[in-house]
Amino acid sequence: MTKISIALVSVLLVLTGMACAQGASQSAAAAAPPQEAAAPANAFNRLLPPPALRNLPPAEDGIHDPASPGTPLLQAPLAAFGPLPKANAGNRINWVSAANNGNIRPRWNAKDPKAQAEVLDLNIVRAVKGTMPDVVFAHNTHTELLDCADCHPALFKTQKGANKMSMAAIMLGDSCGACHGRVAFPVSECRLCHSKAKTMVGATGSQ
Ligand code: HEC
Ligand code: HEC
Ligand code: HEC
Repeated sequence: MTKISIALVSVLLVLTGMACAQGASQSAAAAAPPQEAAAPANAFNRLLPPPALRNLPPAEDGIHDPASPGTPLLQAPLAAFGPLPKANAGNRINWVSAANNGNIRPRWNAKDPKAQAEVLDLNIVRAVKGTMPDVVFAHNTHTELLDCADCHPALFKTQKGANKMSMAAIMLGDSCGACHGRVAFPVSECRLCHSKAKTMVGATGSQ
């Protein structure tokens, strides 16, 4: 009796296993968009889009509604990005150089084309514990593109050292991460923020 029931159970298991495998392969085939299957994977991280799938035209980017009559009127990013200086991450454009070279002229005020940015030349150095280089926050590059009120006082109190900052907060989208990883270069570019080498007192020859 027990032998028979064990045999039955194992036959059932084999059958359900087959059914599951079949179902899974069917739904995977139905779910995978054809272009993704054809495109090579990202060699650095397979969860990131491979180069061929970056900055797709609006109708294919998964953000804009392809059925909307307005979508095809939008300029495709790659057509717009062509002459701009390149970067290694984010949408692959170095926007700070683009502004400095005059490739782009961000309009300061939607209604007044002559309005000028209020640029502040003030670097804030944040000492970092451990071996990572210290963080330099440059007001000038930020205030060429942003208003003081984008950061002060809601995001950062207007006083050096008055704000708590950490990588954890940044990766959760707070502090510098309110923009970096969203509309500005992502957290993967450590050295752009951690740019000030430490003077390693006693690091060599102390024995
Ligand atoms: C992109 C964000 C951002 C923008 C935009 C910005 N700031 Fe700041 N500001 C900071 C950060 C970060 C600090 C340092 C806070 C800290 O160390 O806790 C700071 C600090 C300051 C300080 C304190 C300096 C000190 O020595 O105590 C002043 C003053 C200041 N900002 C003025 C301005 C003015 C004026 C503008 C607009 C022209 C402006 N900021 C735009 C992020 C910004
Ligand atoms: C957008 C700017 C930015 C980028 C990009 C960035 N950091 Fe940071 N990092 C900061 C700031 C700001 C702090 C806090 C400094 C302080 O304590 O005042 C910090 C702090 C740290 C600390 C100290 C401990 C902690 O968690 O606060 C470590 C370690 C660190 N970063 C490593 C990294 C590494 C590794 C990368 C790249 C994977 C990276 N950071 C990328 C801005 C950045
Ligand atoms: C309100 C939005 C905003 C916040 C907050 C912000 N940034 Fe930025 N940051 C930008 C933009 C926009 C750029 C230019 C676009 C780009 O480089 O991707 C930029 C560029 C930079 C650059 C490159 C500048 C250069 O000279 O090449 C550094 C470094 C940087 N940010 C560090 C920081 C650090 C550190 C913090 C936090 C203390 C911070 N940012 C907070 C928006 C922001």
